[in-house]
Amino acid sequence: MAAALLMLIALAISHGSAQGAAPSTSPNTSAGTPEPVPLPKAAEEFLQGHNQARAAVGVGPLTWSSQLANASSLLVRYQRNNMGCKFANLSSSKYGGNQLWAGGQIVTPSMAVDVWVKEKEYYNHTDNSCLPDHRCGVYTQVVWRKSLQLGCAQAACVKEDTSLTICFYDPPGNVVGESPY
Ligand SMILES: *[C@@H]1O[C@H](CO)[C@@H](O)[C@H](O)[C@H]1NC(C)=O
Ligand SMILES: *[C@@H]1O[C@H](CO)[C@@H](O)[C@H](O)[C@H]1NC(C)=O
Ligand SMILES: *[C@@H]1O[C@H](CO)[C@@H](O)[C@H](O)[C@H]1NC(C)=O
Ligand SMILES: *[C@@H]1O[C@H](CO)[C@@H](O)[C@H](O)[C@H]1NC(C)=O
Repeated sequence: MAAALLMLIALAISHGSAQGAAPSTSPNTSAGTPEPVPLPKAAEEFLQGHNQARAAVGVGPLTWSSQLANASSLLVRYQRNNMGCKFANLSSSKYGGNQLWAGGQIVTPSMAVDVWVKEKEYYNHTDNSCLPDHRCGVYTQVVWRKSLQLGCAQAACVKEDTSLTICFYDPPGNVVGESPY
């Protein structure tokens, strides 16, 4: 009778407060840089999901960063090879990070972003609060206005029938005491 176990767990990180040494030197480094090659399909899916959620609340789009994508790819492969696809410890990451752990099902990039954006229903923007017993940090990172770049990767642990999705955001969102937008 029991269907295959389906489970999705999302995890966000918060950043302590003002990032002391936040780089404020060159705000337009990559603005307007032409994209030399088309993005991989997964990148397009990650971007589209994020940018739809951002547009829905009047926040500008993220752009894809191959540097962030490479960093997330390295980490997600480490978690696959050494940690059975468990969540990575991002508490000292210089980037913002969202993760999705999934068991018993295949998770496409757009599904992962959908799970994160679903937290929106618990989030109250009027006073920047989250319903009791719920978390909103994954959603607020998705729509964080000051985050401009995105890079994500996924890995599957076939033996465990689990997978992990990691997205990095730069500059990081979820700065304590700040509203996302
Ligand atoms: C940032 O971009 C604006 C508009 O594209 C440009 O006018 C300005 O000079 C740029 N600033 C730097 C530091 O490159
Ligand atoms: C990301 O990795 C690819 C493939 O290894 C490499 O070609 C590219 O230069 C890297 N990009 C950055 C910004 O490190
Ligand atoms: C994550 O790493 C930090 C140090 O960077 C450590 O203090 C913390 O206990 C770790 N958290 C978990 C869940 O392992
Ligand atoms: C959101 O917060 C405001 C201010 O605390 C409150 O008046 C409003 O009822 C809340 N909205 C929802 C849907 O809970």
